[in-house]
Amino acid sequence: MSYDARFRVWRGDASGGDLQDFTVEVNEGEVVLDIIHRLQATQAGDLAVRWNCKAGKCGSCSAEINGRPRLMCLTRMSTFTEAEVITVTPLRTFPVIRDLVTDVSFNYEQAARIPAFAPQPRDADGNHRMMQVDVERSQEFRKCIECWLCQDTCHVIRDHEGNKAAFSGPRFMIRLAELDMHPLDTEDRRDAAQDDFGLGYCNITKCCSEVCPEGIHLTDNGIIPLKERVVDRRYDPLTWLGSKIGRR
Ligand code: SF4
Ligand code: F3S
Ligand code: FES
Repeated sequence: MSYDARFRVWRGDASGGDLQDFTVEVNEGEVVLDIIHRLQATQAGDLAVRWNCKAGKCGSCSAEINGRPRLMCLTRMSTFTEAEVITVTPLRTFPVIRDLVTDVSFNYEQAARIPAFAPQPRDADGNHRMMQVDVERSQEFRKCIECWLCQDTCHVIRDHEGNKAAFSGPRFMIRLAELDMHPLDTEDRRDAAQDDFGLGYCNITKCCSEVCPEGIHLTDNGIIPLKERVVDRRYDPLTWLGSKIGRR
């Protein structure tokens, strides 16, 4: 069963642009990315769109669909009624390059700043050993596909461009939490989380967790525990005294 859907797609570049209306055929079982591809093939050959796997695994096809940050390849057309106008716009938190493609290099710059995994020395037989129970918490964060939907959603950087210099965003809070929870990592990341990556800017609105296509509980399982560990360090009187007399 096919029908014609009405799409409004943002077209333009860094100098400006606007929403353009299209009517595009939809077939049963299709997702928004299928419709964008059909639009490209039939009516707008130069429409810029980033995608790769069409399976929710590469994190490339992020966009805002009816104002909500989503992966186009995981958004089924059956989510909408046939009469609905479907608006597709680029991620708002990052500068537009062209049409639906944004410059997400902010995220790669943040990734490069995170101090690398620093494992303790290997055991005498040359192996690293860890127990499953010890890695379970940090494993959740390894599911991240770096789609940047959480980064796009977080109001701290979405609504205040100037905050990008101080706050790296939710994806990098869970990267820090992942390393901090890793049983073999030797680096103490708590001061850096607060001072260099801006953990204190997060006011726990949890919007990042709501949009994550991997279902990662960024706030409850990553950011809040990291905040608690920073507080433990900073406000424990013995830790404070130790740091003052140069032992920590
Ligand atoms: Fe995307 Fe989730 Fe990773 Fe954020 S944490 S970049 S929303 S997969
Ligand atoms: Fe932003 Fe997520 Fe915190 S949306 S404010 S990082 S809980
Ligand atoms: Fe890879 Fe959508 S195309 S996640």
